[in-house]
Amino acid sequence: MKIKQSISGLAAAISFGLCASVQATELEVTHWWTSGGEAAAVSEFAKAFDATGNKWVDGAIAGSGGTARPIIISRILGGDPMGATQLNHGRQAEELIEEGLLTDLTDLADKEGWRDFVNPSSLLDACTLDGRIYCAPVNIHSGQWLWLSHGAFKEAGIDVPQNWAEFVAAAPQLAEAGILPLAMGQQGWQQNLAFGTITVAVAGMEAWTEVSVNKNAEVAAGPVYKEVFEAAAAARELAKGSNVQDWNMATNLVITDKAGGQIMGDWAQGEFQVAGQVAGEDYTCLPGLGVNEILDTGGDAFYFPVVDDEETQKAQMELASLLVSPKVQVDFNLKKGSLPIRGDIDLSTANDCMQKGLKILAAGNVLPSGDMALSPDTQTQIEDLMAEFWSTDMSAADAQASYAAIIEDAE
Ligand code: GAL
Repeated sequence: MKIKQSISGLAAAISFGLCASVQATELEVTHWWTSGGEAAAVSEFAKAFDATGNKWVDGAIAGSGGTARPIIISRILGGDPMGATQLNHGRQAEELIEEGLLTDLTDLADKEGWRDFVNPSSLLDACTLDGRIYCAPVNIHSGQWLWLSHGAFKEAGIDVPQNWAEFVAAAPQLAEAGILPLAMGQQGWQQNLAFGTITVAVAGMEAWTEVSVNKNAEVAAGPVYKEVFEAAAAARELAKGSNVQDWNMATNLVITDKAGGQIMGDWAQGEFQVAGQVAGEDYTCLPGLGVNEILDTGGDAFYFPVVDDEETQKAQMELASLLVSPKVQVDFNLKKGSLPIRGDIDLSTANDCMQKGLKILAAGNVLPSGDMALSPDTQTQIEDLMAEFWSTDMSAADAQASYAAIIEDAE
C-alpha cells in the first residue's frame, strides 16, 4: 500500500512537471546578513537555489560577523556542520581547511572556468590554499567609503562635502544645527573599519601595504602613521554621542538626516536602497573619503563543509555553481551594494556609487582586505584596541604604540 502510494505520488509529481522536487535536498546555509538591505540581497540566492528544486534553509545569525563567525566555526569544528556558509574570503577559513573540514571545489572551478572569469584574480587566490580552491566568492565589498546625508547638510546650510577635509571643516556647523557629524556604531570592527579607511586616505597605499601586508612595525610607529592616529583622534571627536551599536543603525542616522555621515563599507548602500533613497540625490558616497580613491577587494564567499552524504554533496556543488553564475551575480549584487566577482556581466543599471566602485576596480586601484592580509588573531587584537581607543580618551600616541606592538608580532 505504501509503495503504491509513493509510486502514484511520484507519477503525479512527474505529470505536474515537479520532478525536481522529488529529489529536493535541504541545505542549511548560515550567514550574518540580517539588516534590511542584506536580507533583500540574500533572498536572491535563496530564490535561485529553490528554483533548482533544492531547498535553501536559511540559517541567518543575528549580529555582526564578529558574532557569527565563532558560531559558524565551532559548529564545523564540533562536527555539526551546515550545508554551506558565508565567511569573508581571506584567512578566516585557513584552519578549517588545514583540518580537512571544507570541501575542495577545484574540480568544479576548473570545469566551469572560474579562473577565466573571476575578476580580480586575487578573489580566487583568497579562496585558494596549496593550489586548491575552497570557496566560491560572491562579491567584492570594500570598506573605504564615506556616506553623506544631503538632508543633514541642507539643514545646516552647507554644501555636501567632497572630501574628508571638507567634512571635518563642516562638522561644527552640523553640530550647531543639532546634527551628529559622524555616526559610529560602538563595535570594534566598525571602529577598525573607520580607522583603516582613514589610514588609506591619510597614509596612502604604500604605507598601508608596508604595515598591513609586510608587517613593518617601524612604519606603524613612524611619522606617517602618527598623522593617521591624529586624524583618527579627530574623527573620534566628531563621533562623540553616537550611541548606536549595529552598523545599520548608524547608517539609519544618515538616512534620517540625524547624522552628517558614516564611514562604512559599501554594504551600507543596501540600506539606502531599501529606504528608497537615490545616490547623488539623497546621499553622496565618497570612495577613499574623497582623498585617495582606493578600495579594498574584500567581500564574502561561501564555503561548503565536508559532509558524508551524497545528496547533500550534490546540492552543495549546485549551490556553488549557482552563486557565481551571471544572472545570480547581477541580481544579488545590485541589492547588496557590492560589485560582482565576474568581469563579463552587464551592470549598466548599477547606481552612481556602484559605478564609482566599478571605475576604481577597472583602473586597478585596489588593495587586499584586512581579512586577506592579517590573521584572524591579529585582526581581533586590532579591533579590541580600536574599541578601546574610540570609546575612551586614550591618546593618539598611546594607541599608535600599542598598534605598532601588535604589528610587530603579527603573522
Ligand atoms: C561584512 C560582510 C558584508 C556585510 C557586513 C556587515 O563582513 O562582508 O557582506 O554583511 O559584514 O554585516
